[in-house]
Amino acid sequence: MCKLCWGVVFVFALVSGGLVYKFILSGSVLEASDGRAAIQLSQGEKDLVLSEMRAFLSSVQHIVAAVSNDNLADVAQAAREVGREAQQAVPGSLMGKLPLGFKKLGHDTHSKFDQLALDAEQLGDASHTLKQLAELTQNCVACHAAYRLDLEQK
Ligand code: HEC
Repeated sequence: MCKLCWGVVFVFALVSGGLVYKFILSGSVLEASDGRAAIQLSQGEKDLVLSEMRAFLSSVQHIVAAVSNDNLADVAQAAREVGREAQQAVPGSLMGKLPLGFKKLGHDTHSKFDQLALDAEQLGDASHTLKQLAELTQNCVACHAAYRLDLEQK
């Protein structure tokens, strides 16, 4: 191939690599004063993510209460409220701003709630549910330690 063609191929590869990095892997992130990665969001996007967070906390509260009453049916219901199916559709523009590590932890957390719901129904073992909850809430801790949400500067 001619030198120019190689040049074009090289530039194209660089650009597409850069785009993959920008839109799939890195997200829209700055380093925050507290050392965490600050994801840069609009007000509406931040509100959406935080409302999902409050749903997580509410579900954890319901699960703990239900376990203390040995009510595994309620456990399953509370967990499903934040399972994969209940997940709100995330707009593509917001998806692009979230770093890959954040999305993975988020998906994994929804899946773990689903597994907890399924096991509560099928095994009906409260101590197993508590173990799963302890493991699942490590995701909450890990994500909060690594990321925060800041309003993007325009
Ligand atoms: C994928 C990452 C991630 C996971 C997993 C995660 N969080 Fe969060 N959560 C965040 C971020 C980022 C914030 C904003 C923190 C900040 O800006 O300081 C937040 C904020 C919150 C808030 C504050 C909501 C508000 O209205 O201000 C609550 C409550 C919360 N999370 C609960 C939870 C619980 C409970 C879990 C686990 C079941 C969880 N989160 C899992 C990333 C995550």
